[in-house]
Amino acid sequence: MSDQFWSDLVQRLTPYVPGEQRSGDSIIKLNTNENPYPPSPKVLEVLASADADALRRYPDPESVELRQALAQYHTLDQSQVFVGNGSDEILALAFMAFFTTKFNASPALQYPQLSYSFYPVYCDLLDIPSKLTALNQDFSIDMDAFENNAGGIVFPNPNAPTSLAQPASSIETLLQRVPDTVVLVDEAYIDFGGESVISLVHKYPNLLVSQTFSKSRSMAGMRLGAAFANPSLIEALMRVKNSFNSYPVDAVAQRAGVASLNDETYYLRTTKKIIQTRTTTSAALKQRGFSVLDSSANFVFASPPNNTAARLFEYLNARGVLVRYWSSDLLKNWLRISIGTDAQMQELLSAIDEGMST
Ligand SMILES: Cc1ncc(COP(=O)(O)O)c(C=O)c1O
Repeated sequence: MSDQFWSDLVQRLTPYVPGEQRSGDSIIKLNTNENPYPPSPKVLEVLASADADALRRYPDPESVELRQALAQYHTLDQSQVFVGNGSDEILALAFMAFFTTKFNASPALQYPQLSYSFYPVYCDLLDIPSKLTALNQDFSIDMDAFENNAGGIVFPNPNAPTSLAQPASSIETLLQRVPDTVVLVDEAYIDFGGESVISLVHKYPNLLVSQTFSKSRSMAGMRLGAAFANPSLIEALMRVKNSFNSYPVDAVAQRAGVASLNDETYYLRTTKKIIQTRTTTSAALKQRGFSVLDSSANFVFASPPNNTAARLFEYLNARGVLVRYWSSDLLKNWLRISIGTDAQMQELLSAIDEGMST
């Protein structure tokens, strides 16, 4: 492909590569941490009743009803809530708003050596200097490794791909230690067992928390994310959004988000089911000699015996059982496996048994 028209920036980029979206009746898809259960029936009702006006007109650029519903849900004011086209978009806007270079002299943004692989991509795109902090031996995030003079700090909690959660108290200690640094806590997986720090936004003006409807609320296809912070940080996100795309959240998604928040019972039931399946899957993998980290997410991070991760990944992939594998030094002995239904996990285990015996 000719790149003669590409800007220098585009030539330099290494874009993020999402997990494969292969489909078909026989595919067991455990590679992108999607929820195996459908969204709340109330969300489906909104989709079924979407009328022509919802499409003909531009959506509310401020997403007021959805932000109000989120504010009420988390006991916040609407001025402390932002919504975006998936939390990926919110992360990108936050990187632009808080971490880009100020007068060519900003210290580096810091994030853990193992964390969401979109962070380095945003840094490349936006020319943000970054520094990776080492993890503890047990793969947990070393909170003390973040420096007092960081240009910003970002980490997922629970972390991806390790699945390990950080207690809220350790995040509060960090917030107190770096009062002049924006700390972005990416809580994409928080509903599966972590301790959210959303309530700390009242106390710490440097805290920004992002969440998503993609995982616990089964709405990855809709692209809906939210962020929580003090009004000044939210205003900064609004300024960047309104300099880029006034309408990132479509009209149907705004209404579907409210419907999802109004069906707490459904969401708690499916989340609880995933946690149960995670417990049985972790035990079954350990029985087969895998090391499995203590997951607080909707996936497990597991290392098969005798360094067979790469081979097992290929075997499973050929059988239509999709899991995630990275060949870098730190990750090459590990597989990240999303939690599906009990039946899907049973198929995974049977495929693993066959793969390990061949
Ligand atoms: C750690 C983390 N943050 C954010 C996201 C983005 O989620 P979404 O853009 O679907 O809200 C993901 C997606 O897998 C993730 O793993």
